Amino acid sequence: DKNQIELQQPEQRLLRMFKERAGEYISGEEISRQLGISRTAVWKQINKLRETGYEFEAVSRKGYRLTGEPSRLAAADLMLAARTSVMGRNLKLLDVTGSTQDEARLLAEQGAPEGTLVIAEEQTKGKGRMGRSWYSPPGNGLWMSLLLRPNLPLGSAPQLTLLMAVAVCRAIRSVAGVDAGIKWPNDILISGRKTSGILLESTGEDERIRYCIAGIGIDVNMAAGELPEDLRAIMTSLRIESGQKINRSELAGTILNETEQLYGIYMTEGFGPIAALWEALSISLDKPVTVQTPAGEVKGTAVSLDSSGALIVRLADGQTTKIISGDVTV
Ligand code: BTN
Repeated sequence: DKNQIELQQPEQRLLRMFKERAGEYISGEEISRQLGISRTAVWKQINKLRETGYEFEAVSRKGYRLTGEPSRLAAADLMLAARTSVMGRNLKLLDVTGSTQDEARLLAEQGAPEGTLVIAEEQTKGKGRMGRSWYSPPGNGLWMSLLLRPNLPLGSAPQLTLLMAVAVCRAIRSVAGVDAGIKWPNDILISGRKTSGILLESTGEDERIRYCIAGIGIDVNMAAGELPEDLRAIMTSLRIESGQKINRSELAGTILNETEQLYGIYMTEGFGPIAALWEALSISLDKPVTVQTPAGEVKGTAVSLDSSGALIVRLADGQTTKIISGDVTV
């Protein structure tokens, strides 16, 4: 459970010590003793916490004192940024949870309205596409799940995934001022590295959608050193790319505005206008691509989206094939 996970991580235990003794100086020696780590390791952990927005005062012969915490997402800020009538109007903000997807599903099953939004500062079991996990540390990311209840056939879910990618990409471009693009189906990339992923989970009945949960994960304010080593080559954050800290509430609010607008267009005019916006932001069209699909590898040129949201790839022999699910390398 939550407590066990926290106990395994030295910086979490360190933080707890400082919070329990708010305002007090704690000596490096005492911390080292209590956590069973060296003085150098204590100093490293303090610096790690500093990178995530915590502030410490260090006084010789007294020790360290916690003087500031990272800014948290506040419901009031978020509601100010979201000028929506449905999306995000029912909001649940959590400090820590396994996955916001599961929280949102629980609410959906209890009859929560369309637009219900769950945001967590930290996820301990963040989920990615294709059964992967999603690294979701506290403080500098945006981890959220939005409940949609469209009256549509189950087969429309891939279109909604692409719609969400357009909404997130447009919001990122306008709030962070960066040249973000979409890699099929819904990864958001900046200079070739991923900054955001979307996981759409849908539940159906009699071939109709009962509800969808659109999970959005964005690496917002992580500094380069905060990304685990194995992710550094493929992931980036909005802060790294834009050179500035991004207001997470403004970003979340803008995503909600974009989603509400695009969702309205989609419900009245269909997928056509959404596909056009997606294609304009795509970085995988007209390029040679390799796609890992459940049925094996496909190499060719990505040419367009079909009406269901599948990617059309032209193979070397001129034939085209439809990709419904897979991982694209551009
Ligand atoms: C991907 O693999 O690219 C999709 C990542 C989706 C991550 C988000 S974070 C909020 C929501 N909760 C989860 O557990 N996953 C999604």
